[in-house]
Amino acid sequence: MLASGCSIEDKRKNDMNTKVTEIAPDVYRISTFHPDYGIQFNQFLIKDEEPFLMHTGFKKMFSNTLEAVSSVIDPSSLRWIGFSHFEADECGALNEWLGTAPHAQAVCSFVGAEVNLKDFADRPARALSDNEVFEIGRHRLRFLATPHFPHGWDAGLFFEENDRTLLCSDLFFHPGDPEPMIESGIMERARGSIMAGLAGPLAKDMPYTPYTDSTLQRLAALEPQTLALMHGSSFRGDGRASIISLADRPAEKASYKYTLEVKTTSAKQISRVAWDYVFTDPRTHREALRHSFESKVKIRPGGSAKVTAYKNEGPYQVVDANGSSGKSGERIVIKRIVYSDGSVWEG
Ligand SMILES: [Fe+2]
Ligand SMILES: [Fe+2]
Repeated sequence: MLASGCSIEDKRKNDMNTKVTEIAPDVYRISTFHPDYGIQFNQFLIKDEEPFLMHTGFKKMFSNTLEAVSSVIDPSSLRWIGFSHFEADECGALNEWLGTAPHAQAVCSFVGAEVNLKDFADRPARALSDNEVFEIGRHRLRFLATPHFPHGWDAGLFFEENDRTLLCSDLFFHPGDPEPMIESGIMERARGSIMAGLAGPLAKDMPYTPYTDSTLQRLAALEPQTLALMHGSSFRGDGRASIISLADRPAEKASYKYTLEVKTTSAKQISRVAWDYVFTDPRTHREALRHSFESKVKIRPGGSAKVTAYKNEGPYQVVDANGSSGKSGERIVIKRIVYSDGSVWEG
């Protein structure tokens, strides 16, 4: 129940608690915990001659972010607005900021400026080349074009060179409303949330592409001392080692176990079974996903055995507009049995 005179937007704003913490010299973490998402949305303000804001936050979060920025600088003096990729939390409030700060300009990748901001932004953006460095006063920012990393064709990251702070967007994501800064355990948190998220509708947010390893190596070589995360605690410590451990690809290594029970009445010994695990869509009852396996086994005449196979890909999932998942139907199809004497049964 809302108090009279209090709008739903006001109520939401009151539910969102914004904290400001200086995590590196002149780098202010503006952290808003959003109860609907159960995660933090962190913006980073670099206070300098030409103030720089990394991510705008959601449009509906603008009044929170504005209030927090106002506690550090005059918000109309904001000069640069950087972000990684075109998403509501990264740049949803861009036009609100352009309206507040008359000399502010968005800075992002060429793809971001050309494909998205040319239409979306109320004023033209500055497109940055890969590795371009620009100075905002005492601080030097290097832009790294990182297509599809963490996600999005237009993605890029910023590195503050003087104090070695990597503004790393969605990397090392972890949920909840944790402390502003930690000095250990960042990889454990990131790995835990990747693994926990795999079964949910928002899984696989970071694609593994032919460029992923080289991008991670490139970021590690910067030897960041501070990792400024958009979602979760910032980290101070060995940024190089943390990034290298992220290259270990926890999501890629996650695997699902598929099991088949085989009983034979044949007088011959089975040496190999080719089988499919088939998922059907619960709404259409049609086949939606098929995993194929060929398993080496040894099943004696009249005997039985459990056959196990692993695959990175999980079950077929149906997600409706409310974000809830539906359970798909499952069946196993045996396609071929190879016997020890070389004879073959085809299904
Ligand atoms: Fe993102
Ligand atoms: Fe994000």
